[in-house]
Amino acid sequence: MFMENKILVTGVNGQLGHDVVLELQKRNIEAVGVDVTDFDITDRNATEEFIKKEAVTGIIHCAAYTAVDKAEEEAELCRKINVDGTKNLLDAAKKISAKFIFISTDYVFGADGENFLEPDDTKNPLNEYGRTKCEAEKIVAEYEKSFIVRTSWVFGINGNNFVKTMLRLSETKEELNVVCDQTGSPTYTVDLAVLLSDMIASEKYGVYHATNENICSWAEFAEKIMQLAGAKTVINHIPTSEYKTAARRPLNSRLSKVCLDKNGFSRLPTWENALGRYIVELKK
Ligand SMILES: NC(=O)c1ccc[n+]([C@@H]2O[C@H](COP(=O)([O-])OP(=O)(O)OC[C@H]3O[C@@H](n4cnc5c(N)ncnc54)[C@H](OP(=O)(O)O)[C@@H]3O)[C@@H](O)[C@H]2O)c1
Repeated sequence: MFMENKILVTGVNGQLGHDVVLELQKRNIEAVGVDVTDFDITDRNATEEFIKKEAVTGIIHCAAYTAVDKAEEEAELCRKINVDGTKNLLDAAKKISAKFIFISTDYVFGADGENFLEPDDTKNPLNEYGRTKCEAEKIVAEYEKSFIVRTSWVFGINGNNFVKTMLRLSETKEELNVVCDQTGSPTYTVDLAVLLSDMIASEKYGVYHATNENICSWAEFAEKIMQLAGAKTVINHIPTSEYKTAARRPLNSRLSKVCLDKNGFSRLPTWENALGRYIVELKK
């Protein structure tokens, strides 16, 4: 029997989930966007019941505990949502044989140096958030109909992020200190949503890296934000050692995208291009 695709998207009130639902709808694919008011993913019975009732063919799991610094003091809650919550969803997916996409992070690595990280490279998470994502990945990887998609430095219209923080601060600050020795790639939710929608329509299961193309430091990212927004704030480049945060962060977040090429998925546009479109969107 032919089954129409019906995709459940968790975290619809967050940055990525919001745009994934919009992208699926654009493609005329039935999308059920859910958040904690529909069911709490840490509630195993509620999760299973909802998924069984909806009889979805795929799940794109964007919900997560994402407060990286706060997670250092709320380690238990972070683990409950990111590990136990993911397991609850995955087990429910298995029961109805649904495809499952888990969104993960560059913070599973904890690398320094300058090489581009491949999906199978050594994991060494430096913070609680990264440890929970790493643990969840291991559980998800056991399921034969799963995708693990690691992304980084996410910005979208629906939520808070580095771009919005920089723009807010630019209204009152002439100078800002921003770290210049952590290198990675910003990622626009609109672009990532296109790839995730392509993936869930495929059977090319596995572990992927997905960010906008090109790399930069947070300081370079901030400079481009100011430039594109026409703000005058000067960005001072400072080392991580001079910017104290509760959670440690890796210096090297360069993610290799060769895995996308190998499986015939298109890479995302450059982060500079994405940021330009995002700032136009923010001004609307
Ligand atoms: N943001 C980044 O820079 C970044 C970087 C790398 C990877 N990622 C990953 O990318 C994915 C999407 O990130 P994002 O920035 O879109 O996250 P986000 O904006 O923080 O959204 C996460 C969503 O999950 C929901 N949620 C939290 N706990 C829940 C629970 N127990 N049950 C149901 N829903 C729950 C949140 O609802 P409430 O707001 O009501 O709590 C929120 O709507 C996440 O898996 C994240 O780990 C993000």
